[in-house]
Amino acid sequence: MDLSSISLGMAKIHYTNAGIKENKTFSVNIPSAGMVKKTDYCGLVSGKRVDKSRLFENFCGKLETAPMIKQCPINTECRLIKTVDFPKHDVFVGEVVETYCDEQCLKDGGKFMGGVQELGKVVRQEGPLDEKTAHLVQLAAGTTQRSEGAVHSHVRRAIEVRARPEEIYHSIILLTSTIGFPTVSAALSWAADVIGDKK
Ligand SMILES: Cc1cc2nc3c(=O)[nH]c(=O)nc-3n(C[C@H](O)[C@H](O)[C@H](O)COP(=O)(O)O)c2cc1C
Repeated sequence: MDLSSISLGMAKIHYTNAGIKENKTFSVNIPSAGMVKKTDYCGLVSGKRVDKSRLFENFCGKLETAPMIKQCPINTECRLIKTVDFPKHDVFVGEVVETYCDEQCLKDGGKFMGGVQELGKVVRQEGPLDEKTAHLVQLAAGTTQRSEGAVHSHVRRAIEVRARPEEIYHSIILLTSTIGFPTVSAALSWAADVIGDKK
């Protein structure tokens, strides 16, 4: 894949998928740390229930059907070039048509994005926990936050570093007496989305 493409793996139940299929465009908006609460809300509540477009100011670029978020320091608008149809997920591949970026993020050769990526890498590499344990700890943190995206992401990455399904499920089940069964049960189902053994 060339560097001017972005792909998104999105569960078919999401409201967003229908909009991407209809308009054949989408945008990717990178929030700042100050936007974490509203961003997390967007990740937890579906557009089927709430009009999330009212949370931020929107603008459109070259593609008129891919609204972007003014408050985000980086916005990318994409034209849909391919959809891969999996049973539970769509993978949308988009060609980047334009990227809009706050100057602050560009100064010193794009230190901002590099710094964010580097932070995650450095804290994991510093040890002494190995990478698998680190992802299981972050999986537990995502579970307590009820963050489906974080659970999916850390389950996926734990599997990449050879975590077994039993170890992943155990990391979540261990939290039952701390955070309660309903949250644990939700996280087990998100983990099963990725592991692929959902009944
Ligand atoms: C940090 C974070 C990352 C997420 N990443 C994904 C993802 O990669 N794929 C996905 O299908 N859902 C992901 N989700 C979950 C969706 O954002 C969530 O289900 C959302 O409510 C879907 O909204 P919609 O129904 O309006 O499209 C993520 C959630 C969070 C909080």
